[in-house]
Amino acid sequence: MAITRRHCIQSLGLMALASATSPCLATQLANEYPWQALLGVSLVGEHDYQAEIEGEIPTSLEGTLYRNGPGLFERAGYRKQHILDGDGMIQAIDLMNGKARYRNHFVRTPKYLREQATGRFLYPTWTTLAPELWENFPGTPPFSQAGVTTYLMDGILTAHDEVGQPFALNPDSLEDMGQHRISPKGGAIYLKAHAKQSGTTGNWTFISWSHGLAPSVDIIVRSPNGRVIDHRKVSMPRDCYIHDFFATEHFTIIDLHAIEFNPLPMLAGLYSFTDCLKWSPALGNQIIVIPRDSGQPVKFFPAPARFMWHSFNAWEKGSEIIADFIAYDAPDHFIGKDPQMKAIMQGRCTRTYHSGMAYRYIINLQRATLREELITDGNIEFPIIHPKLGGLACQFGYATFGAPGQFFHSGITRIDLNTGAQDQYDFGEKVHVGEAIYVPEGMSENRGFLLSMALNGDTGKSFIAILNATHVSAGPLALIHLRHHTPLSFHGTWSDKR
Ligand SMILES: [Fe+2]
Repeated sequence: MAITRRHCIQSLGLMALASATSPCLATQLANEYPWQALLGVSLVGEHDYQAEIEGEIPTSLEGTLYRNGPGLFERAGYRKQHILDGDGMIQAIDLMNGKARYRNHFVRTPKYLREQATGRFLYPTWTTLAPELWENFPGTPPFSQAGVTTYLMDGILTAHDEVGQPFALNPDSLEDMGQHRISPKGGAIYLKAHAKQSGTTGNWTFISWSHGLAPSVDIIVRSPNGRVIDHRKVSMPRDCYIHDFFATEHFTIIDLHAIEFNPLPMLAGLYSFTDCLKWSPALGNQIIVIPRDSGQPVKFFPAPARFMWHSFNAWEKGSEIIADFIAYDAPDHFIGKDPQMKAIMQGRCTRTYHSGMAYRYIINLQRATLREELITDGNIEFPIIHPKLGGLACQFGYATFGAPGQFFHSGITRIDLNTGAQDQYDFGEKVHVGEAIYVPEGMSENRGFLLSMALNGDTGKSFIAILNATHVSAGPLALIHLRHHTPLSFHGTWSDKR
């Protein structure tokens, strides 16, 4: 909602220190604000350089790590309210011959280009109103920021958020190639940022949510060469906000968690999208199992109220569906009174009261039952699996973990999803560690590397850690040190050059 004077002053303080390419400024920021505040400070400019390496990059690891996330949070003294909100910035780390080249590139969306030309924010985004009242009517975010996920598909690198269609970039040069349409004609166009690739067929599944009095979800399945091979629209029992979903070989599964969405204050230009969300646990969750075959009925299963950002994976086992995910008893880090994701943007470090925990749904389609099991109660987020096992049985998942009360995590954990056993490495309380990407060597779950982008709170600079995925607790094999900080990077992908 409205930016307060105190907020503006704190924001200006953060902005003055935002060019953290200077070590003394980074140190000053680390001293005056919680060091985690750097995760919500823009990276100034675009860079291209050979990064310093500590240790040795494995010779069998050659390719490019791509990351996406918000890279620009403030313009002309006006700052985004929430760390999840900002213009998309692709980062590419090329690993070749034991060396590491770093690049970053702001996605040239129409929003970015217009605001770059005027030097100020012009449009509401999903957590933050536009600066002037009249710029918020009607109040729906009108433009993509392309700053959540990135995938390699159709021979291009894509940059997605949850407003419209993704944007395309040349995976080698990072040159912008304009909007890349996924939705077929007649399909809803507000695609979710997350997509699922089948380990069996290579097909991609996308979903889009249509808000309103009669909410619905479009499910779009495309072949690896971009041909739409399935498109199904399904009515939803109530309006909601979801971020991710599950896909198996024959089913798409929606976790309709206990979020209520009332769009009226947003349409009136008074509230942002996320300020219209309310956690209502009395609603419970509904797990909606949607067959790919549109002739088959959709099935609904009640489940305990939990908030889910991300799923690990889901697969079919006879008449059962196994679905693994991370969820919270309540999303107090995200919405409600003084959530941590807002406080950190004002240079305040708060705590959360509900941790991300790993759960498994076991859905028996013949008996029409759903059972929920706790896999681990650690404070975890950003789940990933072997990238070639989407929709297939897999034993191991990877996630970040952190101290209780902190959404901003300091370690990487490998979780046996069948037993809950873990193998962990903690970088320490003054390091933030982001999503780890699993780079497999073949189809085995027992041979590969983890690549994670991290922030050192002592130096105010970021680094990429490379770990042995099957021996996480041994610690990093190599660190790639950047010359500056990078803001919170949500999601990434790997392009193998081997
Ligand atoms: Fe996500």
